[in-house]
Amino acid sequence: MKNLAVFASGSGTNFEAIAQACADGRLDARVVLMVCDKPGAPVIARAERFGIDSFVFSPREWPGKAAFETEIVRRLRERDVDLICLAGYMRIVGDVLLGAYPDRILNIHPSLLPAFKGAHAVEQAVAYGVKVYGITVHWVNADLDGGRIIAQKSFEYDGSDPEEVHRIGQKIEHQLYIDTIEKVLSL
Ligand code: GAR
Repeated sequence: MKNLAVFASGSGTNFEAIAQACADGRLDARVVLMVCDKPGAPVIARAERFGIDSFVFSPREWPGKAAFETEIVRRLRERDVDLICLAGYMRIVGDVLLGAYPDRILNIHPSLLPAFKGAHAVEQAVAYGVKVYGITVHWVNADLDGGRIIAQKSFEYDGSDPEEVHRIGQKIEHQLYIDTIEKVLSL
């Protein structure tokens, strides 16, 4: 059985979908650590409900990215983590983490990459009047949202409400992330 770590900064619906899939046996894996850079984020209570260990930190209390990533890597190694899943972790991954887990970090992004990289992807797409939206799961490298794409799913929406796009997209995200993790773990 493989060990996963999930990184999140906010609500944590993707975290919960992954943790539930592990608990149900739909994924032959277990979530051994949840990492969160936002004390107070709702994802922390979700991890508690699943009995999953958390590392919650406030980046400004550390001397820099290398320092907190060194601590994250220590905790990942302690738990023999095989795969890291970024799930709404709104922070650029630095050299320490990338160097320790090359080609072992996934991210889910709410656009059809390479369109609309970075934060507020859905809002950017709505502002363009996009008609075909989508979700991407990709490997993480030093290029923001620029790593090799593993899976994508599109959907049509002809409107101007970003909240509606988020709602449609999130349902797709949960299944797409679980399916992609399964595929990656079987490689
Ligand atoms: C998800 O929609 C994910 O695609 C997005 O953050 C949301 C987190 O939701 N990620 C990014 O925008 C990364 N650039 P969740 O906390 O409910 O899983």
